[in-house]
Amino acid sequence: MAKKKRLRIAAVKTIPNVTHAGAQLKGRWPSIFHNEHPITLELGCGKGDYTLALAQKHPQRNFIGVDLKGARLWVAANKALDLELKNVFYIRANALDLAEIFEANDIAEVWIPFPDPYPKKPRKRMTAPRYLDIYKKICRPGAMFHLKTDDDVFYLFSIESLQQYGCTIHQNSTDVHSCPEVDDNVRITTFYESKHIATGLLIKYIEFTLPEENMV
Ligand SMILES: C[S@@+](CC[C@H](N)C(=O)[O-])C[C@H]1O[C@@H](n2cnc3c(N)ncnc32)[C@H](O)[C@@H]1O
Repeated sequence: MAKKKRLRIAAVKTIPNVTHAGAQLKGRWPSIFHNEHPITLELGCGKGDYTLALAQKHPQRNFIGVDLKGARLWVAANKALDLELKNVFYIRANALDLAEIFEANDIAEVWIPFPDPYPKKPRKRMTAPRYLDIYKKICRPGAMFHLKTDDDVFYLFSIESLQQYGCTIHQNSTDVHSCPEVDDNVRITTFYESKHIATGLLIKYIEFTLPEENMV
């Protein structure tokens, strides 16, 4: 592993706006943010493009980025500190552990920008039923999910998985950047998204809510 990456993984443990799975976080979010504003999650946040952009636009909301990779979170968390954003926090964790971190109804909105497509392991995809089960435990009824991907297989898998699970799909585009009716937030462009656009890939977008029966 490159030295810079190793140093960042070590340093991320000491940054005040980052924590890790296993820390006692459940039920503590109002005291961490010093308010009870609604929380938006960015799953697989990488360098935190969505949390950083949305937090600047919406100071009356809180934003939490979750990723497995410490070196990427280091970049996100330092940018948030440079921008003096008080409504942003990052957690080094697996999205499968979200129910250890949040209580029922904690989460008001979820962005999933460019999740790993896991070509040979569909159950690891963030729209597989075992992930949807976890989201159901922590999201408020009506919490809106925003999924962006460049990957056709992941996109088609997600449509099928969401429909089978009983989710409601509110918007669905196979080329979101040429779609006039999407919200401005969907135009925020992440690190991976820029790379995909540069190679000519079209960006797919799905906006959905979970089925409301048996939430929690
Ligand atoms: C392709 S990158 C996209 C990063 C960023 N969203 C972007 O668009 O630039 C996928 C990210 O998801 C993270 N990831 C993959 N599986 C995860 C999981 N189960 N829980 C949390 N993060 C995960 C990876 O570490 C990686 O940073």
